[in-house]
Amino acid sequence: MPWPVSFGKPLSLVLTLLFVQGSIGLLFNALDINYWRCKIKRGRTCPDADVNIYFYNSEERYRQRVDMRPDRGLSYSGWDPDKKNVIIIHGFNGTERKSPMTFIRDAYLNRGDYNVFTIDWEPLTFFPCYLSALSNTRLVAQCAAQFYSPLTHMGARADHTHCVGHSLGAHVCGMISNHLTTKMYKIIGLDPARPLVHRYGSDAFKLTRDDAHIVQVIHTNAGLLGETAQVGHVDFCVNGGRMQPSCTREGRRIRQARCSHFMSACFFAATVSNRGKRFVGVPCTSSCRPLLPFGYGKTVSMGEHTPDDARGTFCLRMADNKRCPFD
Ligand SMILES: *[C@@H]1O[C@H](CO)[C@@H](O)[C@H](O)[C@H]1NC(C)=O
Repeated sequence: MPWPVSFGKPLSLVLTLLFVQGSIGLLFNALDINYWRCKIKRGRTCPDADVNIYFYNSEERYRQRVDMRPDRGLSYSGWDPDKKNVIIIHGFNGTERKSPMTFIRDAYLNRGDYNVFTIDWEPLTFFPCYLSALSNTRLVAQCAAQFYSPLTHMGARADHTHCVGHSLGAHVCGMISNHLTTKMYKIIGLDPARPLVHRYGSDAFKLTRDDAHIVQVIHTNAGLLGETAQVGHVDFCVNGGRMQPSCTREGRRIRQARCSHFMSACFFAATVSNRGKRFVGVPCTSSCRPLLPFGYGKTVSMGEHTPDDARGTFCLRMADNKRCPFD
């Protein structure tokens, strides 16, 4: 059974089982596999009704759906070629309309110098359908790439266009590179998802530093829901990178982990404004351990204001943002 992205044997086995289970559903639907309520997209053609791209501009703020049909020429009003562009991609059980992605969107809109695009793939990634969400990332990346290329043809400067992805969305940003002849300029991966990806995902699937000229990663739940160690050219560990202090009151450990995993997006959103420059890290080991007594070492701003030539892993402490809830 062909799976274009190789997941390795054990995961293929699970997917095969899902496939058998889903074959019953196939009688009714030639392209998609539906098991239980979950949906695995087998088709790889965009536009797809389950992957939507929205555009926002600072002046009007309401969302416009980007018409992805060929030769529609990305017709949406208010796109400004002189502004920078950001593409924001949510993760598992997310949507573009929900916290914490809305905080990132609004932080960019408040700056006024960005065209903001969000990619919504909610019908393909809801809880508990993690396996199908993993599989569906391929289609989402394909659609994102098919949107990105015309955007650059329309005059968007590649070095003024970047992708911000949370969790599985971070891997989607990385997978876009599989479809491009010229690498993207910058990807910011917010606590890239670890479950199964870490063990079984190939490099074509995972976010790696080959996926863009600059790959930045922010760790907030490393080792549980987020990947560990240095993934990008530059990585940041917030509050030790693993479990966020403000999440310890969240009860069960899985909730604490989810809360910590979400915080990467809240912390990143805080760096986006011009005042966000003040969130600086100091060099630390790739496993987020301090190299020097805290407060020593050359500082580097995290997130939006990180200099392009920054390399290595940096650690910083940040207070939680109570206005950035995780559910
Ligand atoms: C999934 O999202 C729904 C709707 O936002 C939320 O109520 C639920 O707690 C989330 N579940 C998990 C396990 O993330």
